Amino acid sequence: MIATTPSESNHPIPKLPPADHPLGWVRHAPFYQAGLAGYSDTAMRLIARKHGCPYCVTEAMLDHFLIQGGKGLDHARLSDDDHPIAGQLMGSHPEDIAKGAKILANLDYDVIDINLACPVKKIKKKCRGGHLLSAPDEAIAILQAVRDAIPHNIPLSLKLRRAYDDTPQMAENFHKILDAAINLDYASTTIHGRTVQQKYIGPAKWPILKQITSHYASATQSGFLIFGSGDVDSPQAIFDMIRQTNVVGASVARGCIGNPWIFEQAHQLLQEKSPTSPDIEQQKNVLLEHFQLSVSIHGEHLAGRMMRKFGIKFSQHHPNHDAVKNAFIKVKNLDDWQTVLDTHYAKNAPGVPITPWTKLPQDTLSE
Ligand SMILES: Cc1cc2nc3c(=O)[nH]c(=O)nc-3n(C[C@H](O)[C@H](O)[C@H](O)COP(=O)(O)O)c2cc1C
Repeated sequence: MIATTPSESNHPIPKLPPADHPLGWVRHAPFYQAGLAGYSDTAMRLIARKHGCPYCVTEAMLDHFLIQGGKGLDHARLSDDDHPIAGQLMGSHPEDIAKGAKILANLDYDVIDINLACPVKKIKKKCRGGHLLSAPDEAIAILQAVRDAIPHNIPLSLKLRRAYDDTPQMAENFHKILDAAINLDYASTTIHGRTVQQKYIGPAKWPILKQITSHYASATQSGFLIFGSGDVDSPQAIFDMIRQTNVVGASVARGCIGNPWIFEQAHQLLQEKSPTSPDIEQQKNVLLEHFQLSVSIHGEHLAGRMMRKFGIKFSQHHPNHDAVKNAFIKVKNLDDWQTVLDTHYAKNAPGVPITPWTKLPQDTLSE
């Protein structure tokens, strides 16, 4: 029925890593939880894994926070059940980002991911994140330094946007950087189908992702993995993206905030079953578990703030979502959280299927 794989198109089939490779999960479940600053902490990752997410990426970590130690480093420490995982790094200086990569390798990260995608403004005129797509030589120096610092048994990956902006120069920069990564034996990339200038506004252009996978067909046949990101707002969108763009898998970002069930539903599609929505009791259990994990990681005060934004997103599954959303907005501590659960989640009932936010049919988007 709904789920399809690239093999159904005429596109050459990418070579997949063996099952025991840190990226070998893609053979069985071609999707993962994206890095999401302010959200994708240990608590969100562990909840996602319990719902069938095979792989997670941390939020972007600044190299100098790792190097300085203290809270930044503590934040990067992993729990034993949080594998396979990529630690994502962002920075401006090749030597610092290479030091950061070594720290992540010592902390037992399975994959090290370099962020060349974040659209947050330049700092002190220095490029980092997506701004490096406008400075390809600086970007390549970073990729090279990380390569030199990390042994080849730890796969390297990079997160890109499809370009800095829509000019031909920036398209050229994109290819220069991705060519360099492939030559440096990077194992994979995830490409967000928006430009840096676009930030999160407007649709991600899947047709450009398709052009990119065609351009790099021989690299993917040799084992380089290209994942797609952007507008993966439902389990079906995962497989639509794979079918329409020939990426090897999809990164699930905003679509999994307050919605770990998207991973379970994607597995249901793979098994040719109709996706089921969580009932109120299932929602309550996940909300409680997520809060308890968050408290154990951040303490009650910070967890209260973190969980308010998750609660607002979780409320979309509830039949009285406006009332529940308003109640979550007022949450400050565990007692308030429990009160929302006692008021709105005490009696079991069916949940509501959530509506994908993307309204434009992706097939019709032109470049
Ligand atoms: C709140 C927020 C935080 C994000 N933080 C990161 C991050 O730390 N690292 C990263 O690679 N991408 C980050 N992204 C980008 C997402 O991973 C993803 O590429 C983007 O949201 C497009 O996918 P979507 O349209 O399906 O949400 C972030 C996106 C959002 C909305």
